[in-house]
Parts: sequence; C-alpha cells; structure tokens
Amino acid sequence: KGLNLAAKAAKKLYLGTATNSEEWNDTTYYSILEDNAEFGQITAANVMKWFDTEPEPGVFTFQDGDVIANFVKKTGKKLRGHNCVWHNQLPDWVVNGTFTAPELAFVVERHCFELVHHYRGQVWDVINESLNDDGTFRSDIFFDTLNSTYIPIALRAARRADPHAKLYINDYNIEGTGAKATALKNLVKSLKRQGVPIDGVGIQSHLTVGQVPTTLRQNMEEFVALGIEVAITELDIRLLNTTANEEGLARQKADYETVISACNAVEKCVGVTLWDFTDKFSWIPTTPPNEGYPCPWDENYVKKPAYEGIIQGFQ
Ligand code: G3I
Repeated sequence: KGLNLAAKAAKKLYLGTATNSEEWNDTTYYSILEDNAEFGQITAANVMKWFDTEPEPGVFTFQDGDVIANFVKKTGKKLRGHNCVWHNQLPDWVVNGTFTAPELAFVVERHCFELVHHYRGQVWDVINESLNDDGTFRSDIFFDTLNSTYIPIALRAARRADPHAKLYINDYNIEGTGAKATALKNLVKSLKRQGVPIDGVGIQSHLTVGQVPTTLRQNMEEFVALGIEVAITELDIRLLNTTANEEGLARQKADYETVISACNAVEKCVGVTLWDFTDKFSWIPTTPPNEGYPCPWDENYVKKPAYEGIIQGFQ
C-alpha cells in the first residue's frame, strides 16, 4: 500500500511530492519521502527557480538543484523541473533590470536553455503563472517588456535544450472552467497554431475544503482535447473556517478523493504531485484551530483521512 502504488495501479505515471532538502534532516520526513511506494516523483519546491539557478547574469549555479536531482536519481523517482519563467523568486538583476526587448529575449532564452539542458530528460514547468484570474496576461518584467512573445521564446529554447523534455505551462485557479482556464486553452491553441512546442498544462490545485470546482473533470478533458496532456502539479487542500476535527478532516478526505478521481477519469491526466506531504512543512500556515492543515500527513506524520481519500480516488 502507498500513494504512488495506488497511482500506478490506476495507470498513472506517478503520485509525487514537492520537497525542500532542508526538510530532510527530519528522519521521519526523509523515510516517507524516500519510499517509492508513497512517492514516485519529486518537484523541487524552490531550488530550481531563477534566483537560485542564475543569481547573476550568465552565472549558472545548479548545486542546490542537483541535491534534489541526485536524490531523484538515487531513489529511481521521476523529476519535474520547476520552473523556467515566473514573476516570483527572481534574482534582483532580473526584477530590477532595465532591458530592451531583444536583451530580455536573450536573457529568457539563455536561462531556459541552460536550465533545461542541465536537467535533461525531464518534465519542465517552462512557464509558471503567466495569467491573471480574468484571463489577461500578468503584468511582470517579461510581459511588460516582451508582451506575450516571451512564452514562445521560452518554450522554443527549452525544446532546443532537450528535444525529449515534456514542456508545460503551469498555473493556479485553472482547476475549474472559467475565464482563466479559457484564456489558457486559447493560449495553448494559439501556440499550437504557430508550431510552438507545448506538451502539457499543469493544474496546480491549491484548493480549499468545500470549494473544489465541480467542473474539474470537464475542464481537464477540454485541455486534453487540444492535443496535450495535463498533470495536477501542486495539490493541497487547506481547511478554512473548518476545524481539524473529525468532520473537517472527513470533508478534506472527500475533496482529495474528488480531485484524484477527476484525474483518474481522464486518461491524459498523467500524474499528481502534492505540494509537500506533511502539515509540518506546508507553505500554507496552519493557524489553529481552523485554518491550514492542507496535507495528507499531519505535523506529527500521522496519516489523516485525506490519505485514504487519495487511495480511494485512484480506485
Ligand atoms: O531561503 C530563505 C531563508 O534563508 C530565510 O531565512 C527565510 C526567512 O523568510 O526565507 C527563505 O526563503 C523562503 C523560501 O520559500 C524558501 O523556503 C521565502 O521566504 C518564501 O517566500 C518561499 O516561499 C516559496 C514560495 O513558492 C514563493 O512564492 C514556497 O516555499 C514554495 O513552496 C512556493 O511554491 C509556489 C510554486 O513555486 C508556484 N505555485 C505556488 C506555490 C506556493 O506558493
């Protein structure tokens, strides 16, 4: 028994988790993380991002990312690269840079190429969070300088760096149908029309108990119908105004099951990644008594009902 085994039994490629290597000193954490029955895939929660991989122009530092990649190799798991282009966790020289469009195009291209080339043979979140909730493009250094052309520039550089990598656009609030999901479908269509490489959409899925969109499955099917795959890339389901008592945890279990079974029902939903697996290390602060607690393991590594919800979702 185990989450990844359940995913495999459901013919998915993996059930995985995000992690930070600072968490590995916790021996209980490490032993669960290492267990291939639980996790078949790893995403670096932070260290493959721009601030860590190219802190100065043209200076690439892969030491921190390599710690994750080596662990993945050693344990025989899969790696998801996260991420090439994102408005957050950028080094100062990018955020505060004053670039002409051709200069920034070169910077984006070089970053994506070097990163994807160093971690070849992987899946990559090439573009992360490029849209606003209303479906317009996010205003950031990339869009403000290059308009949406930075997206094809990044995807093409990634493809040149690794012809075999799966290239994704990853975002949140695209779990259900709506303005943002529609905009992303239109973006994928337009990229495909232009012959820009795009293999998948990552549906982050930072969700809240009681607010899981009912259109999850339909929405995934609409993405897949564009000729791409989808993956759930950052799943966690926080409690909000719901105490972590038996009832709150039961509702959380049901919501995990709903999300997993939506992926399970869509053939081209290839796998699911949790955004870390214990409440102890979640990015979502737990404020007792009734907010947070988003993961399937509690802060003491006791499996919550959500764990069983995931198993059931794969059945
Ligand atoms: O490394 C420093 C440490 O030196 C310092 O002492 C400490 C004090 O605040 O901060 C540490 O940096 C933190 C970093 O995580 C590493 O732990 C940052 O403050 C913190 O803001 C940063 O948060 C990360 C967040 O992205 C940044 O937006 C989370 O760990 C990470 O889980 C989260 O991941 C994102 C995905 O990449 C994209 N989708 C949403 C998801 C959740 O926000």
